[in-house]
Amino acid sequence: MNISDYVNKIIEGDALTTLKSLPDEWVDMGVTSPPYNKGENKKGWLVTSVKYSGASDKLPEDVYQENQIAVLNELYRITKCEGSFFYNHKIRWERGNLLHPMDWLRKTKWVIRQEIIWDRMIAANIRGWRFWQVEERIYWLYKPKGNKIIGKELKPKHALLTSIWRFPPERENPHPAPFPIALPVRCISSIMDEKKGIIIDPYCGSGTTLVAAKILGHDFIGIEISKEYINFAEKRLKNYKLEEEYVKGEMAQHFVEKTFKERKKNGEFTGRYGRKNNKENEEQRILDLFIYDKS
Ligand SMILES: C[S@@+](CC[C@H](N)C(=O)[O-])C[C@H]1O[C@@H](n2cnc3c(N)ncnc32)[C@H](O)[C@@H]1O
Repeated sequence: MNISDYVNKIIEGDALTTLKSLPDEWVDMGVTSPPYNKGENKKGWLVTSVKYSGASDKLPEDVYQENQIAVLNELYRITKCEGSFFYNHKIRWERGNLLHPMDWLRKTKWVIRQEIIWDRMIAANIRGWRFWQVEERIYWLYKPKGNKIIGKELKPKHALLTSIWRFPPERENPHPAPFPIALPVRCISSIMDEKKGIIIDPYCGSGTTLVAAKILGHDFIGIEISKEYINFAEKRLKNYKLEEEYVKGEMAQHFVEKTFKERKKNGEFTGRYGRKNNKENEEQRILDLFIYDKS
Protein backbone atom coordinates (compact mmCIF):
# COMPACT_ATOMS: atom_id res chain seq x y z
CA MET A 1 0.00 0.00 0.00
CA ASN A 2 1.20 3.53 -0.56
CA ILE A 3 0.21 6.68 1.36
CA SER A 4 -2.67 7.61 -0.96
CA ASP A 5 -4.38 4.32 -0.04
CA TYR A 6 -4.75 5.57 3.56
CA VAL A 7 -5.52 9.23 3.04
CA ASN A 8 -9.07 10.48 3.68
CA LYS A 9 -10.11 7.05 4.87
CA ILE A 10 -11.03 5.34 8.12
CA ILE A 11 -9.26 2.03 8.65
CA GLU A 12 -11.20 -0.56 10.62
CA GLY A 13 -8.94 -2.25 13.16
CA ASP A 14 -6.92 -2.08 16.33
CA ALA A 15 -4.97 1.17 16.70
CA LEU A 16 -1.59 -0.40 17.54
CA THR A 17 -1.68 -3.11 14.87
CA THR A 18 -2.80 -0.65 12.19
CA LEU A 19 -0.24 2.02 13.15
CA LYS A 20 2.52 -0.57 12.82
CA SER A 21 1.58 -1.03 9.17
CA LEU A 22 1.91 2.69 8.32
CA PRO A 23 5.08 4.28 6.87
CA ASP A 24 7.52 6.56 8.77
CA GLU A 25 7.22 10.35 9.01
CA TRP A 26 4.28 11.23 6.80
CA VAL A 27 1.55 12.71 9.01
CA ASP A 28 1.78 16.35 10.10
CA MET A 29 -0.10 16.08 13.35
CA GLY A 30 -2.81 14.20 15.20
CA VAL A 31 -5.49 14.57 17.82
CA THR A 32 -7.10 11.78 19.81
CA SER A 33 -8.96 10.70 22.88
CA PRO A 34 -8.23 7.02 23.55
CA PRO A 35 -10.43 4.72 25.63
CA TYR A 36 -9.67 5.72 29.25
CA ASN A 37 -9.71 2.22 30.79
CA LYS A 38 -12.52 3.30 33.06
CA GLY A 39 -13.50 -0.30 33.80
CA GLU A 40 -17.03 0.15 32.51
CA ASN A 41 -18.20 0.47 36.11
CA LYS A 42 -21.35 2.28 37.03
CA LYS A 43 -20.09 5.37 38.85
CA GLY A 44 -23.33 6.64 40.36
CA TRP A 45 -26.96 7.24 39.56
CA LEU A 46 -26.30 10.41 37.56
CA VAL A 47 -23.52 9.01 35.42
CA THR A 48 -23.88 6.56 32.55
CA SER A 49 -20.90 4.23 32.21
CA VAL A 50 -19.01 4.38 28.92
CA LYS A 51 -19.26 1.17 26.90
CA TYR A 52 -17.95 0.95 23.34
CA SER A 53 -19.60 -1.32 20.80
CA GLY A 54 -16.36 -2.84 19.44
CA ALA A 55 -13.87 -3.02 22.33
CA SER A 56 -13.61 -3.53 26.06
CA ASP A 57 -12.49 -0.57 28.19
CA LYS A 58 -11.51 -2.83 31.03
CA LEU A 59 -7.85 -3.87 31.00
CA PRO A 60 -5.43 -4.44 33.88
CA GLU A 61 -3.95 -0.93 34.34
CA ASP A 62 -0.35 -1.98 33.59
CA VAL A 63 -1.43 -3.64 30.32
CA TYR A 64 -3.42 -0.52 29.41
CA GLN A 65 -0.50 1.83 30.06
CA GLU A 66 1.97 -0.38 28.13
CA ASN A 67 -0.43 -0.37 25.19
CA GLN A 68 -0.79 3.42 25.29
CA ILE A 69 3.00 3.84 25.34
CA ALA A 70 3.32 1.54 22.31
CA VAL A 71 0.55 3.41 20.44
CA LEU A 72 2.12 6.80 21.23
CA ASN A 73 5.55 5.60 20.08
CA GLU A 74 4.10 4.35 16.81
CA LEU A 75 2.42 7.74 16.36
CA TYR A 76 5.82 9.36 16.99
CA ARG A 77 7.39 7.19 14.29
CA ILE A 78 4.80 8.07 11.63
CA THR A 79 4.75 11.81 12.44
CA LYS A 80 7.05 14.21 10.57
CA CYS A 81 9.81 15.94 12.55
CA GLU A 82 8.45 19.19 14.05
CA GLY A 83 5.01 17.57 14.09
CA SER A 84 2.66 17.54 17.07
CA PHE A 85 0.14 15.23 18.66
CA PHE A 86 -2.68 16.25 21.02
CA TYR A 87 -3.66 13.53 23.50
CA ASN A 88 -6.86 14.03 25.47
CA HIS A 89 -7.07 12.04 28.70
CA LYS A 90 -7.97 12.57 32.31
CA ILE A 91 -6.75 12.03 35.83
CA ARG A 92 -8.54 8.92 37.12
CA TRP A 93 -9.13 7.94 40.71
CA GLU A 94 -9.65 4.20 41.03
CA ARG A 95 -10.23 2.54 44.39
CA GLY A 96 -8.31 5.28 46.17
CA ASN A 97 -5.39 5.39 43.71
CA LEU A 98 -4.74 8.40 41.53
CA LEU A 99 -3.74 7.51 37.96
CA HIS A 100 -2.17 10.38 36.05
CA PRO A 101 -1.54 10.39 32.26
CA MET A 102 1.99 11.68 32.98
CA ASP A 103 2.65 8.22 34.50
CA TRP A 104 2.97 6.80 30.98
CA LEU A 105 3.49 9.91 28.82
CA ARG A 106 6.96 10.41 30.29
CA LYS A 107 7.85 6.87 29.15
CA THR A 108 7.14 7.66 25.47
CA LYS A 109 9.51 9.22 22.91
CA TRP A 110 7.50 12.45 22.68
CA VAL A 111 8.65 15.77 24.10
CA ILE A 112 5.81 16.90 26.38
CA ARG A 113 5.22 20.51 25.42
CA GLN A 114 2.19 21.49 27.45
CA GLU A 115 -0.53 20.22 29.71
CA ILE A 116 -3.77 22.00 28.84
CA ILE A 117 -6.74 21.96 31.17
CA TRP A 118 -10.06 21.33 29.46
CA ASP A 119 -12.67 22.84 31.76
CA ARG A 120 -15.80 20.89 30.85
CA MET A 121 -17.84 22.99 33.30
CA ILE A 122 -19.57 19.86 34.57
CA ALA A 123 -18.57 17.13 37.03
CA ALA A 124 -18.46 13.46 36.06
CA ASN A 125 -19.81 12.44 39.48
CA ILE A 126 -21.48 14.07 42.43
CA ARG A 127 -19.96 12.22 45.38
CA GLY A 128 -17.76 14.03 47.86
CA TRP A 129 -14.79 11.68 48.01
CA ARG A 130 -12.87 14.48 46.29
CA PHE A 131 -13.68 17.97 45.04
CA TRP A 132 -15.80 17.51 41.93
CA GLN A 133 -13.54 16.94 38.98
CA VAL A 134 -14.76 19.20 36.19
CA GLU A 135 -11.70 19.03 33.96
CA GLU A 136 -9.90 16.73 31.57
CA ARG A 137 -6.39 17.19 30.21
CA ILE A 138 -5.01 17.66 26.72
CA TYR A 139 -1.30 16.95 26.26
CA TRP A 140 0.52 18.73 23.49
CA LEU A 141 3.28 16.33 22.43
CA TYR A 142 6.06 17.40 20.10
CA LYS A 143 8.46 15.52 17.81
CA PRO A 144 11.67 17.57 17.54
CA LYS A 145 14.02 17.84 14.62
CA GLY A 146 17.34 16.49 15.90
CA ASN A 147 17.97 17.85 19.37
CA LYS A 148 16.02 21.10 18.84
CA ILE A 149 13.31 20.32 21.36
CA ILE A 150 11.93 23.87 21.62
CA GLY A 151 10.53 24.14 18.08
CA LYS A 152 8.51 27.00 16.63
CA GLU A 153 6.32 29.55 18.39
CA LEU A 154 2.56 29.63 18.02
CA LYS A 155 1.13 32.75 16.42
CA PRO A 156 -0.13 35.17 19.12
CA LYS A 157 -3.77 34.74 18.04
CA HIS A 158 -3.50 31.07 19.00
CA ALA A 159 -1.24 31.38 22.04
CA LEU A 160 -3.58 33.97 23.59
CA LEU A 161 -6.26 31.27 23.87
CA THR A 162 -4.39 30.31 27.09
CA SER A 163 -3.77 26.91 28.68
CA ILE A 164 -7.32 26.59 30.02
CA TRP A 165 -9.86 25.64 27.39
CA ARG A 166 -13.46 26.08 28.38
CA PHE A 167 -16.22 24.36 26.45
CA PRO A 168 -18.82 21.78 27.50
CA PRO A 169 -18.77 18.11 26.44
CA GLU A 170 -20.60 17.11 23.27
CA ARG A 171 -24.24 16.21 23.89
CA GLU A 172 -25.85 15.74 20.47
CA ASN A 173 -23.58 12.95 19.24
CA PRO A 174 -24.84 9.35 19.86
CA HIS A 175 -21.27 8.00 20.34
CA PRO A 176 -20.72 7.19 24.07
CA ALA A 177 -17.63 9.42 24.52
CA PRO A 178 -17.16 12.01 21.77
CA PHE A 179 -15.29 15.26 22.25
CA PRO A 180 -16.77 18.54 20.96
CA ILE A 181 -15.53 19.62 17.54
CA ALA A 182 -14.08 22.80 19.08
CA LEU A 183 -11.32 20.66 20.62
CA PRO A 184 -9.71 19.26 17.44
CA VAL A 185 -10.44 22.51 15.58
CA ARG A 186 -8.45 24.45 18.15
CA CYS A 187 -5.54 21.99 18.10
CA ILE A 188 -5.38 21.73 14.32
CA SER A 189 -5.82 25.40 13.47
CA SER A 190 -3.30 26.51 16.11
CA ILE A 191 -0.57 24.17 14.89
CA MET A 192 -1.23 24.13 11.15
CA ASP A 193 -2.36 27.77 10.86
CA GLU A 194 -2.30 28.44 7.07
CA LYS A 195 -0.35 25.26 6.20
CA LYS A 196 -2.18 22.19 4.84
CA GLY A 197 -1.30 18.65 5.85
CA ILE A 198 -2.39 15.18 6.98
CA ILE A 199 -4.08 14.78 10.36
CA ILE A 200 -4.47 11.42 12.14
CA ASP A 201 -6.83 10.19 14.84
CA PRO A 202 -6.04 6.56 15.83
CA TYR A 203 -9.20 6.23 17.99
CA CYS A 204 -11.45 8.29 15.76
CA GLY A 205 -14.84 7.14 17.13
CA SER A 206 -17.56 9.23 15.53
CA GLY A 207 -14.97 11.03 13.40
CA THR A 208 -14.89 14.42 15.16
CA THR A 209 -11.17 15.02 14.42
CA LEU A 210 -11.63 13.95 10.81
CA VAL A 211 -14.59 16.27 10.25
CA ALA A 212 -12.61 19.14 11.81
CA ALA A 213 -9.63 18.37 9.55
CA LYS A 214 -11.82 18.20 6.46
CA ILE A 215 -13.60 21.49 7.17
CA LEU A 216 -10.23 23.17 7.78
CA GLY A 217 -9.00 21.93 4.39
CA HIS A 218 -6.65 19.12 5.48
CA ASP A 219 -6.35 15.47 4.57
CA PHE A 220 -6.99 12.95 7.33
CA ILE A 221 -6.70 9.34 8.37
CA GLY A 222 -8.77 7.63 11.03
CA ILE A 223 -8.45 4.28 12.79
CA GLU A 224 -11.37 2.77 14.68
CA ILE A 225 -12.18 -0.71 15.91
CA SER A 226 -15.98 -0.45 15.79
CA LYS A 227 -17.71 -0.77 12.43
CA GLU A 228 -20.78 0.93 13.89
CA TYR A 229 -18.81 4.09 14.74
CA ILE A 230 -17.03 4.03 11.38
CA ASN A 231 -20.38 4.00 9.59
CA PHE A 232 -21.49 6.97 11.66
CA ALA A 233 -18.21 8.85 11.08
CA GLU A 234 -18.45 8.30 7.34
CA LYS A 235 -21.97 9.73 7.34
CA ARG A 236 -20.70 12.76 9.27
CA LEU A 237 -17.86 13.25 6.80
CA LYS A 238 -20.31 13.18 3.91
CA ASN A 239 -22.46 15.83 5.63
CA TYR A 240 -19.51 17.89 6.93
CA LYS A 241 -21.09 21.14 5.73
CA LEU A 242 -23.66 20.85 8.53
CA GLU A 243 -20.85 21.37 11.07
CA GLU A 244 -19.13 24.32 9.41
CA GLU A 245 -20.93 26.82 11.66
CA TYR A 246 -19.46 25.22 14.82
CA VAL A 247 -16.02 25.38 13.27
CA LYS A 248 -16.48 29.05 12.39
CA GLY A 249 -17.53 29.68 16.01
CA GLU A 250 -14.24 28.29 17.29
CA MET A 251 -12.19 30.05 14.62
CA ALA A 252 -13.75 33.41 15.59
CA GLN A 253 -11.91 33.12 18.89
CA HIS A 254 -8.50 32.96 17.20
CA PHE A 255 -8.22 36.65 16.67
CA VAL A 256 -6.02 39.36 18.05
CA GLU A 257 -6.11 42.99 16.89
CA LYS A 258 -2.38 43.47 16.63
CA THR A 259 0.35 40.92 17.06
CA PHE A 260 3.38 41.44 19.28
CA LYS A 261 5.52 41.79 16.14
CA GLU A 262 3.27 44.48 14.67
CA ARG A 263 3.26 46.45 17.95
CA LYS A 264 7.03 46.23 18.16
CA LYS A 265 7.44 47.37 14.55
CA ASN A 266 5.20 50.40 15.18
CA GLY A 267 7.03 51.26 18.41
CA GLU A 268 3.85 50.52 20.40
CA PHE A 269 3.48 48.97 23.81
CA THR A 270 4.80 45.40 23.82
CA GLY A 271 4.84 44.41 27.48
CA ARG A 272 4.12 45.38 31.03
CA TYR A 273 7.68 45.83 32.18
CA GLY A 274 9.08 47.69 29.18
CA ARG A 275 8.00 51.22 30.12
CA LYS A 276 8.97 52.46 33.52
CA ASN A 277 7.98 56.13 33.19
CA ASN A 278 4.51 55.92 31.82
CA LYS A 279 2.37 54.11 34.35
CA GLU A 280 -0.89 56.05 34.05
CA ASN A 281 -2.14 54.26 30.92
CA GLU A 282 -0.44 50.99 31.62
CA GLU A 283 -3.51 49.07 32.76
CA GLN A 284 -5.49 50.16 29.71
CA ARG A 285 -2.65 49.15 27.39
CA ILE A 286 -2.44 45.73 29.01
CA LEU A 287 -6.17 45.33 28.53
CA ASP A 288 -5.79 46.41 24.89
CA LEU A 289 -3.33 43.60 24.33
CA PHE A 290 -6.05 41.11 25.19
CA ILE A 291 -8.89 42.55 23.13
CA TYR A 292 -10.50 39.97 20.91
CA ASP A 293 -13.03 40.53 18.24
CA LYS A 294 -15.81 38.07 19.08
CA SER A 295 -18.20 39.31 16.39
C1 LIG B 1 -13.00 8.21 23.57
S1 LIG B 1 -13.55 7.42 22.12
C2 LIG B 1 -13.09 8.56 20.87
C3 LIG B 1 -14.22 9.46 20.49
C4 LIG B 1 -13.87 10.47 19.41
N1 LIG B 1 -12.90 11.43 19.84
C5 LIG B 1 -15.13 11.19 18.97
O1 LIG B 1 -15.22 12.43 19.10
O2 LIG B 1 -16.08 10.51 18.54
C6 LIG B 1 -12.44 6.10 21.91
C7 LIG B 1 -12.71 5.27 20.66
O3 LIG B 1 -11.70 4.27 20.58
C8 LIG B 1 -12.27 3.10 20.00
N2 LIG B 1 -11.38 1.97 20.36
C9 LIG B 1 -11.32 1.28 21.51
N3 LIG B 1 -10.31 0.39 21.48
C10 LIG B 1 -9.71 0.54 20.28
C11 LIG B 1 -8.59 -0.06 19.65
N4 LIG B 1 -7.88 -1.02 20.27
N5 LIG B 1 -8.23 0.35 18.42
C12 LIG B 1 -8.95 1.32 17.76
N6 LIG B 1 -10.02 1.92 18.31
C13 LIG B 1 -10.39 1.55 19.54
C14 LIG B 1 -13.65 3.02 20.63
O4 LIG B 1 -14.52 2.22 19.83
C15 LIG B 1 -14.04 4.51 20.68
O5 LIG B 1 -14.77 4.85 19.53
